[in-house]
Amino acid sequence: MKVGIDLIHFATADYYLGLDTFAAEKHIDVEKFTIGIGQEKMSIAPPDEDVVSLAAKAAAPILRQIDTNEISAVLFATETGVDQSKSAGVFLHGLLGLPNRCRVVEFKHACYAGAAALQMATTMIRANSKEKVLVIAADIAKYDVDTSGEATQGCGAVAMLITESPRIIAIEAGSGYYTDDVMDFWRPNNRTTALVDGKYSTKVYLNSLKHAWEHFTEQTNRTFNDIDYFCYHIPFTKMAEKAHKTLIKKTGADVTQDQFEAQTLASQIYNRIVGNSYSASLFVSFISLLDNNRQSVEGKRISFFSYGSGCVAEFFTGIMQSGYEKVLMTQEHQRKIAQRKPLSYQEYLDFYKQADSVIENIVYPLTNKGPYRLAGIKDHKRYYEKTNQLD
Ligand code: COA
Repeated sequence: MKVGIDLIHFATADYYLGLDTFAAEKHIDVEKFTIGIGQEKMSIAPPDEDVVSLAAKAAAPILRQIDTNEISAVLFATETGVDQSKSAGVFLHGLLGLPNRCRVVEFKHACYAGAAALQMATTMIRANSKEKVLVIAADIAKYDVDTSGEATQGCGAVAMLITESPRIIAIEAGSGYYTDDVMDFWRPNNRTTALVDGKYSTKVYLNSLKHAWEHFTEQTNRTFNDIDYFCYHIPFTKMAEKAHKTLIKKTGADVTQDQFEAQTLASQIYNRIVGNSYSASLFVSFISLLDNNRQSVEGKRISFFSYGSGCVAEFFTGIMQSGYEKVLMTQEHQRKIAQRKPLSYQEYLDFYKQADSVIENIVYPLTNKGPYRLAGIKDHKRYYEKTNQLD
């Protein structure tokens, strides 16, 4: 039985901070960002945007195309949970009016949880082919102001419908994984911003890739040359470049510069202008490949490397299905990215400082231009609403 991604759609915030604006404010050479870490823009969430409203924006165009009564589970992956107990997925379930005969749960492990949710969904469907599972990966990457992480913020949500006989990609059985208890990135319960040992996290990422690859080859007997395109977790696009170089060195593959670019560049275009979206970033990379690759990827094998600091990593593959182009939502993705409004550094700071969701009572002014938003918090309870905006 083939199991995999039947529909996929991506959403981000309606605002961004250009790294040119950021560099000018901080008196740093802009090429440190555009060349050194390979980033141009960071999507910035206004105070009335959180992972639930982002997820609703990502999921709604998928739900319009199917009978939502068929959704048997919502697996919501996020590091930016909105409640210590109630799953973000249940807020989403209510906001989108999903059926009561549905299981909903939140997955967490830094940037890895999206891959975990996808693998769990494929397992559920292999056990019962009638299942249709909505997997959401949504995060808002936020670091302290004036730290090195500040330039690698961003946000986004990817919604994926996982089914039997998928129209986009069939996920192949067999993957390589790796876990090690390290402190390269973490966020204690009392903090809204992550703490990171950035240089160390880069090293652990690359080390995890080597271990996950070794396990993947043992499990599947596949080699580097069996894979046509490589999608990596992308905290910043230079990381994907470092990862691909590491994999080539590890496998001893013979790859020209043209081949290197063909294997990786299309899968970085969106990430470069959206920024980090933690658990969603690997799937933003996949969508970027689908929307931007010049040649059809029909029948091609795509690899996915998920890395979540702390750390858990997984390397797996899928085969692109024939006719996949017909169900892509490329124009919607491009329109939403293009229509974001640029922020000055001060406007970004105003958003940044207001977005404190631990307060007991607040009514948020309408800043979110999307179809769903966080309206406010009353007696510690979060209230979402559908706006009059079209998605
Ligand atoms: N022109 C071109 N390149 C430049 C440059 C310039 N003017 N100035 C610096 N660079 C290069 C550096 O040589 C370096 O390249 P290298 O990594 O290939 O050596 C790169 O830009 C980054 O510079 P660096 O001084 O290391 O930046 P930093 O101390 O600000 O840290 C991160 C960068 C990514 C580690 C930091 O932003 C961070 O901690 N981010 C969050 C954590 C994260 O994303 N971890 C990844 C694993 S999930």
